[in-house]
Amino acid sequence: MCGIFAYTGSKKASPILLEGLSMLEYRGYDSAGIYMPGFDVVKTPGAVAELTKRMTKDYSATSGIAHLRWATHGAPNEVNAHPHGDCDGDVFVIHNGIIENFRELKEELLAGGHTFKSETDTEVIAHLIEGALKDKLNFEDAVIDTLKKLRGTYGLLISYAKDPDTIITARMGSPVVVGLGDGENFIASDATPILKHTKQMMFLSDGDVAIITPTTHRVRTLLETEVDRPSETITWDVGEASRGGYPHFMLKEMMESPEVIENALRGRLIMEEGKAKLGGLEAVEKELQNIDRLIIVGCGTAYYAGLIGEYLIESLAGVPVEVELASEFRYRKPVIRPNTAVLAISQSGETLDTLEAIREAKRHGALTLGIVNTVGSTIARETDAGVYNHAGPEIGVASTKALVSQVVILSLVALFLGRTRSLSKDDGVALANALKSLPELAKKVLEQSEEIRKVANVYKDSRDFLFIGRKFSYPAALEGALKLKEVSYVHAEGYGAGEMKHGPLAMIDEKFPTVAIVPQDSVYEKTVSNMIEIRTRKGSVIAIATAGDEKIKEVSDHVIYIPKASEELSVVLSIIALQLFAYHFAADKGLNVDRPRNLAKSVTVE
Ligand code: M6R
Repeated sequence: MCGIFAYTGSKKASPILLEGLSMLEYRGYDSAGIYMPGFDVVKTPGAVAELTKRMTKDYSATSGIAHLRWATHGAPNEVNAHPHGDCDGDVFVIHNGIIENFRELKEELLAGGHTFKSETDTEVIAHLIEGALKDKLNFEDAVIDTLKKLRGTYGLLISYAKDPDTIITARMGSPVVVGLGDGENFIASDATPILKHTKQMMFLSDGDVAIITPTTHRVRTLLETEVDRPSETITWDVGEASRGGYPHFMLKEMMESPEVIENALRGRLIMEEGKAKLGGLEAVEKELQNIDRLIIVGCGTAYYAGLIGEYLIESLAGVPVEVELASEFRYRKPVIRPNTAVLAISQSGETLDTLEAIREAKRHGALTLGIVNTVGSTIARETDAGVYNHAGPEIGVASTKALVSQVVILSLVALFLGRTRSLSKDDGVALANALKSLPELAKKVLEQSEEIRKVANVYKDSRDFLFIGRKFSYPAALEGALKLKEVSYVHAEGYGAGEMKHGPLAMIDEKFPTVAIVPQDSVYEKTVSNMIEIRTRKGSVIAIATAGDEKIKEVSDHVIYIPKASEELSVVLSIIALQLFAYHFAADKGLNVDRPRNLAKSVTVE
């Protein structure tokens, strides 16, 4: 997820572009860049403050494109910052998304004599347009010709020095909004930076290409027919707009789960072979074939992701896995033998305990790996190899979409390790298919947000909650409790359902509700027995159960249904339901769920 912003009109573009970018900083802050026809590109690592310092000229340009990067392909440095240009310095491109076939395209372009400056996927677009212009196509047709060659996602801004007032924008999977002003027009990744200038917005659909000048706007599709995209008057305020119209980032980020799953999977599944292709692990593939033990470290929600990873990797790949709180691992004397790998899971890539755990593992000579969302973060840089989440920045302090993404990546790691060991091709293909269908299933859970809200409201006065589950649902129970206490400040405990008689059952009475995660899996009957025990002690039970399971109603007070999914992946759906439960429980009390008291997004101290 990057921030894109463009202006074409009659005013000086540079202050408008800088101000617009500053309002998009929540979308990315690895690097920033700007291009205005007639002037050199200005780029910098960091965000808008750094870019402003580098803008030392008096820029008279009245159009331009600007970008804030959340790195995916290529390190977050100046060279990889957008905009990216062609060989002649005439065409400049800004991109939010991922071009999957950029390696093939780059090889062809290199063979054709083009020279590249960056490691990014985006730069191929500028060179392809350059080629099409040299083939005598006009700017608009050169862009369309290029877009037809791309596979992947994009929200694009393209500027051409020889047609300085025109900006072409295109959308495929990444949002693009056009703001229609009086003698000036704006383009951005969301409405936030446009609202100050105009409330009249046109939202592009996938496959749309819009040609924007100060006084005109036209939309074509890749099939070349002109289309009519009516504009709407937006009544959101700026805060609402940056949250995509949602009241909180936490809700917006949960709603992004289907897209996050797709981003985690993109280009990483070889469906017909039932294998995972993880570019970030290729360099250590040999060492990975020889590991006989994996230790996963993380904190908070990332630690719970690790617990799910343990179940996935042990059952699918047969590699022994231990999961440890990073804060414990770093202070004891862990036994690390030569063929042990240590895997850090971290959204921010900056959590101090996790980083120190990795450093400790390195001191013992272990192969270190990372599942990290923030490209170029310290953990990403210090581990030997790893897999990026590509989930986009997570602003809400409560980790939501990052966890969904971490579990999907862990499934890919299990598939990757499993297929070089005992996992059969048929089982690999089945998992690959299950992963492919996950975004649709996640959407179905999210569609029930209001239903879940109603259930959460029934328990609005409860001060204590228990969350229980077995097997994959056990870490989900731990996470459900963490999410609830984190955003609502009520007491919540997660337990393995089989532990009830070993202590927690004593707490149960009519004021102590239990959330039971009970999908129809191999331990279903066992969890149902625990639910009955709770109800016998007058405790209320909210079940997270599989759609179509009518019998579960007999042992529950309320049921939240999730779609049927494979045993390994059903946990992703339970987690989304639990996140919605915690969110609505707290948000309806008027609490600031995005910034819970006493907590920070990234814990970079002990
Ligand atoms: O950035 P990280 O994934 O390393 O962060 C780890 C934890 O601090 C984080 O998951 C924390 O527990 C969340 N606030 C939970 O929602």
